[in-house]
Amino acid sequence: MERRLTVGSLIKNKQRIEIAEFSSVIESKTMRSVIKIKQNNQSFKLLPISNELLLDSALKQGIPLDYKCRKGTCGKCAVEVIEGQNVLYPRTKRELEKFRDVNMRLACQARIK
Ligand code: FES
Repeated sequence: MERRLTVGSLIKNKQRIEIAEFSSVIESKTMRSVIKIKQNNQSFKLLPISNELLLDSALKQGIPLDYKCRKGTCGKCAVEVIEGQNVLYPRTKRELEKFRDVNMRLACQARIK
């Protein structure tokens, strides 16, 4: 009796689960939206990196954001988030004190989800 082999028949259940999990991780990483920010009349786009501060993520991606204290006090790192607020954690106490505009964030305080 001839047995027909398909791609599905060659993958054991465990491997299928691992592939499915891997696919969902890849999908979640690639489907994340780009963050668009503006500082000093310059616009920048950056890819969100989970659990990183917006400032660190921008600097790692070669985006020359201005900053100074990194403590949320000087306000030098202030950016307007044009797109991608949904991938940032809610504003911190320092940000709430500094800005009424919900789109303004301190890059040194805003953390990416
Ligand atoms: S660098 Fe000073 S508030 Fe962010």
